[in-house]
Amino acid sequence: MSIAKKFMSWVDARYPATETYEYHMSKYYAPKNFNFWYFFGVLSMVVLVNQLVTGIWLTMMFNPSAEGAFASLEYIMRDVKGGWLIRYMHSTGASAFFIVVYLHMFRGLLYGSYKKPRELVWLIGMGIYLCLMAEGFFGYLLPWGNMSYWGAQVILNLPAAIPFIGDALAEWVRGDYLISGITLNRFFALHVVAIPLVLVGLVFMHLVALHHVGSNNPDGIDIKKLKDKNGVPLDGVPFHPYYTVHDMVGIVVFFICFFAVVFFVPEGGGYFLEKPNFEVANALKTPPHIAPVWYYMPFYAILRAVPHKLGGVIAMGAAIAVLFVLPWLDRSPVRSIRYKGILSKIALAIFVVSFIILGYLGGTASTPTATIVGRICTVLYFLYFLLMPFYTSIEKCKQPPERVTGGH
Ligand code: HEM
Repeated sequence: MSIAKKFMSWVDARYPATETYEYHMSKYYAPKNFNFWYFFGVLSMVVLVNQLVTGIWLTMMFNPSAEGAFASLEYIMRDVKGGWLIRYMHSTGASAFFIVVYLHMFRGLLYGSYKKPRELVWLIGMGIYLCLMAEGFFGYLLPWGNMSYWGAQVILNLPAAIPFIGDALAEWVRGDYLISGITLNRFFALHVVAIPLVLVGLVFMHLVALHHVGSNNPDGIDIKKLKDKNGVPLDGVPFHPYYTVHDMVGIVVFFICFFAVVFFVPEGGGYFLEKPNFEVANALKTPPHIAPVWYYMPFYAILRAVPHKLGGVIAMGAAIAVLFVLPWLDRSPVRSIRYKGILSKIALAIFVVSFIILGYLGGTASTPTATIVGRICTVLYFLYFLLMPFYTSIEKCKQPPERVTGGH
């Protein structure tokens, strides 16, 4: 026996190293017909690692105080060697995170990946999504720019809409009468320690749950039904080496796009880093137009679509909460949009268009027309979910094939 083999058997007797590797990699049989949409899970992991690594380096040089935060960021950008790269990789990385995660979630909608037996994969995914939203929000205050300040001002005032306890609650969340260094300090602790811990834990659980039930695929059919005499699914291929190599292509293409933005348009035209944030926070100078970063815009538009403040907060919360019950709203006998009926296809198309329009409206100043369009799109957003039990049970679906289509 070679030294390496001896060493591994020593380890395996004490820790399930080979077993874990085989379970999750070389003997994890993934459907052979994964397509473009299946790149975004692994890309979410790549971006998560990027955020953790660049975040740790930024923390080394960042000063989490109202007096020092903005200046320490200028110091990172101008004086620290490679500091600009680390900072832009982190700030562009935040937007990249939401791009890949939104596409990853959309894949779930397309192929019914949230349906039985993957409800927990989806629910844990939603937990991840909530953490990401919180992480982005806390991180945005840290540079202590003027948009950081006023963006946080808008959101931290939302609890004040709650009757009776609202004002006290808003003050408790801020830790001060106004947003101050105290607020910045707690946001720093949450952004750098608390949320990343939960996030990494949830991503781990997300993959454990997925590998327990097995991956879905673009046909939405169960590959475990047809197995060879060794118990290997006929339409499955070992994750390693087939998908590890395949995913490398996606990762390389992603990095080309990512660094093209980091090097040439790191501010993303004011969408990734907003213009007022190049000025230090100023409680006496409200930016003419307060808008959240693009990834919150659809939900911000839903908040603004409701004329009543508390109503708006509830609608915004409900827009996210409804995603949690999605697995129980879809009554279709099939998973994939390929075999669902016309009603599901139309509903998904209307949902996507309304979500994009809401995203656009969330970033523009409100006008009477924008308000009406925002209200229509908010209603359409909710109807996609609320009518789902009906249109998925009455429509006529196609019979899915026995074996997966495509993927050689
Ligand atoms: C940090 C964020 C996330 C990471 C690192 C991550 C990672 C992954 C990975 C590696 C896979 C397997 C590969 C693939 O199917 O693409 C996967 C599958 C899945 N994820 Fe995520 N995910 C994240 C967020 C989310 C969110 C926010 C949701 C939805 C709310 C979600 C729902 C799902 C579902 C339903 C599957 C199974 C898909 C299928 O088998 O068709 N994930 N995730």
